[in-house]
Amino acid sequence: MKAENIAPVLRGLTFNGETGAVVCFDAAESEGADVLSLTADAALELEKIASNIKRVSVKGLGSFVIGEAGRVAVVTGGAQGFGAGLVRQLVKNGYFVFIADMNLKGAESFASELNAENKKDVASAVEVNVADEASVEKMIDQIVLKTGGLDLFVNNAGVLKAGSVKEQNLADFEFVTKVNYTGYFLCVKYVSRVMAAQNTAAIKGAKGEYYADIIQINSKSGLEGSKKNGAYAGGKFGGIGLTQSFALELVTDNIKVNSICPGNFFEGPLWSDPDRGLFVQYLNTGKVPGAKTVEDVKAFYEAKVPMGRGCQPEDIAKALFYLVDQKYETGQALPVTGGQVMLK
Ligand SMILES: NC(=O)c1ccc[n+]([C@@H]2O[C@H](COP(=O)([O-])OP(=O)(O)OC[C@H]3O[C@@H](n4cnc5c(N)ncnc54)[C@H](O)[C@@H]3O)[C@@H](O)[C@H]2O)c1
Repeated sequence: MKAENIAPVLRGLTFNGETGAVVCFDAAESEGADVLSLTADAALELEKIASNIKRVSVKGLGSFVIGEAGRVAVVTGGAQGFGAGLVRQLVKNGYFVFIADMNLKGAESFASELNAENKKDVASAVEVNVADEASVEKMIDQIVLKTGGLDLFVNNAGVLKAGSVKEQNLADFEFVTKVNYTGYFLCVKYVSRVMAAQNTAAIKGAKGEYYADIIQINSKSGLEGSKKNGAYAGGKFGGIGLTQSFALELVTDNIKVNSICPGNFFEGPLWSDPDRGLFVQYLNTGKVPGAKTVEDVKAFYEAKVPMGRGCQPEDIAKALFYLVDQKYETGQALPVTGGQVMLK
């Protein structure tokens, strides 16, 4: 029996309908008046944990510290761009957030910045390559040992390599598909197991209706084709198929699954990076007729949005908090595009 299997059950048992305790694993067994000592099998069979219990010690394994109640979120690709903006909004709203990214250094320095600003631990970095199954499994194990489970998983990590269907090489097509589409499957595969174990335990003693949430950051290109950008749009369209299918299956585990389809985040690195951003690329390749500067390219794209501006992380955060609060919706794809793409 692994600690990773027990931790979500213990967290689930602490739920009061809205929130559960943060449960942190410690490799040392412990004893005392506020410690419940038992075998691994008995831990999995527990029906409740009395409120005076501060640690659950499991023979041959270690102990689980029952901490304060608190909501836990994970944001993949949280080191920069939309992901970083969402991390900030989640922290502002009281979540403890795991910043899960391939760029571990970036995630670590962002977590330190947030912890310093808030004068307490509000974020933690965890390394992951969402396109690699072993790496995803390791990320989820690390999270579970630190907090016992989670309330919200934001599948945000994504990449874009544009290219004509006549010219794009297979390696580029597969790279984009593996991160944006397969990566979503891999993350949900491991995160849903933890949420299901946590929620099954939570339902046993629930005093209200509790749901965990998986939210995929999709794109307006998941709702409408994107010229010379088929790998990206195809994977994003497919992502909505996964969202709908996962939602149908996971509803019985009290997990809601939804997508958010943002418009373009012009101020983020994807568009505005001075060397590799899309504005510079489009300027250099003459994609926007008559454009002489990066500002001309930006103005061209802003004019395509009925509301006259790009999408900001705060716009997506509002959609995200709506989807979490809304207990009567799952399997949806919510556009946040300033009117640029409308549902049919
Ligand atoms: N920027 C936009 O205009 C825009 C518009 C609509 C939707 N989106 C979507 O929003 C999400 C975030 O986009 P962004 O523009 O903020 O991206 P970004 O390029 O600014 O940041 C992406 C982050 O993901 C990380 N990452 C990349 N591949 C990874 C992998 N395999 N495993 C783990 N981490 C990985 C990167 O290190 C980086 O920190 C993506 O899913 C994207 O498709 C972006």
